[in-house]
Amino acid sequence: MDDSSGCISNSFLNLSKDEWYTIPNVQRNRAFARFERVDGIWTLLSDQRFFQSEKINSYNGGVQREFQAIDKRLIESGVLQKIGEEQASMMGLKDIPMRVNVHQMQIVAIGAGASCQATPEGIHRDGHDYVSIVFWRRENVVGGISRVYNEALECNAEFELDEAGEAILINDRIGYHEVTSFHAKDLNKAASREVFVFDWNEL
Ligand SMILES: [Fe+2]
Repeated sequence: MDDSSGCISNSFLNLSKDEWYTIPNVQRNRAFARFERVDGIWTLLSDQRFFQSEKINSYNGGVQREFQAIDKRLIESGVLQKIGEEQASMMGLKDIPMRVNVHQMQIVAIGAGASCQATPEGIHRDGHDYVSIVFWRRENVVGGISRVYNEALECNAEFELDEAGEAILINDRIGYHEVTSFHAKDLNKAASREVFVFDWNEL
């Protein structure tokens, strides 16, 4: 993923704390943007509210959440839209009008020995048509393995994402996924993991 302008790195510097994430000694920082994508044209929507049912999200479901907007400079750079177009091609969605939520997330251990949960809801699906996880960066991390499960909750693939731009594309209507917990390799330093998650839904 080309970030020669530093636009992506910089966009992670000023994320707001996710107040709905309450794991001790761990902080989740995040931002959000919602788009409509029709014929390859991405239109940013003003609605920043995000809702999942309790059935879908046992950790934060049933609550209307509203997150900070993703850095305007990152949106205007077009990099997210470019990543999204690549995903649309790979998933065969080029000609289908879609609504796309983009979540920018950073999980940071703020205490030695903290157990960081990237997916505190455990093995889950997100209630969308498709979901993609685009890895950006991690530092001082042990664990944080992405796992994909079938309908019978058998794990049929696992990935340790560690290269910027590596992505997992998931048909969220089939099966489940999770990220295993992670902790600091060097207990004297913070551990952190940063990703973008794209939710795809047909309009
Ligand atoms: Fe998920």
